[in-house]
Amino acid sequence: MDTRPIGVFDSGLGGLTAVRELARIMPEEDLVYFGDTGRVPYGGRSRDILIKYARQDVAFLRTFNPKAIVIACGTVSTTALDVLQEENDIPVFGVVESAARAAAHVTKNDRVGLIGTRASIRSGAYERALSSLRPGVNVTARACPLLVPLVENGRFRPGDSVAETVAAEYLAPVKAAGVDTLILGCTHYPLMKSIMGDYMGPDVTLVDVGEQCARWVKRQLELDALRNERPGAGRHRYFVSDSAEDFASMACLFLQEDVAGEVGQVDITAY
Ligand code: DGL
Repeated sequence: MDTRPIGVFDSGLGGLTAVRELARIMPEEDLVYFGDTGRVPYGGRSRDILIKYARQDVAFLRTFNPKAIVIACGTVSTTALDVLQEENDIPVFGVVESAARAAAHVTKNDRVGLIGTRASIRSGAYERALSSLRPGVNVTARACPLLVPLVENGRFRPGDSVAETVAAEYLAPVKAAGVDTLILGCTHYPLMKSIMGDYMGPDVTLVDVGEQCARWVKRQLELDALRNERPGAGRHRYFVSDSAEDFASMACLFLQEDVAGEVGQVDITAY
């Protein structure tokens, strides 16, 4: 039993897809979330800058004495997971392994689509994980740099013609490849799940990397006897590096809960 919080971070709103599932399946756990909204998007940045940002994000979260860190960001998971795991004496979880496992389990025709940020696709990390679990699998990968700015600006709902057009353009070659499984390899993308699901059609299973990661974290905490078994609901705190109000209104919409009183702003460059 360990009552310390779980620290979770992303470049912005995307990591809330992991938070939502963590809170659903482990309601008693305390969560501390950091969204680096002052420096989003991460997806086009170099490895050196991503490692620098990720180290600061973790250093901030570690001031809360967390029992584990969840990198709720495909970009950092594919680029800096090994560095962060090496530097920290608590478990650090990324989103790649659990997503690859889910996709390997789901696909029937061995054709898997993958969309992510430029940095994630460039890393080849999802493909490596998938191929080791399912040799011979065919992966059609596509970088989608315009999707994160759309999501951060609230443009992710069905009926939004700009979001639908951009998603369709990115997904066309993936659909044409005949995939039966699509990894939404960036934690921002599940906010566009309805748009993507409608475009890909009912025969394609969408893998939400934030959701899969949350389930994996639960299993690992159980194995390591790190779960919080105290009765009652855990506290969820949120911090961002830009306006707390802007984040709070989007987060309330997405999480369907009032988080306004629990959002603070932090100068992440001080860490
Ligand atoms: N949500 C992140 C990811 O999963 C970051 C995207 C970005 O900031 O570009 O990759």
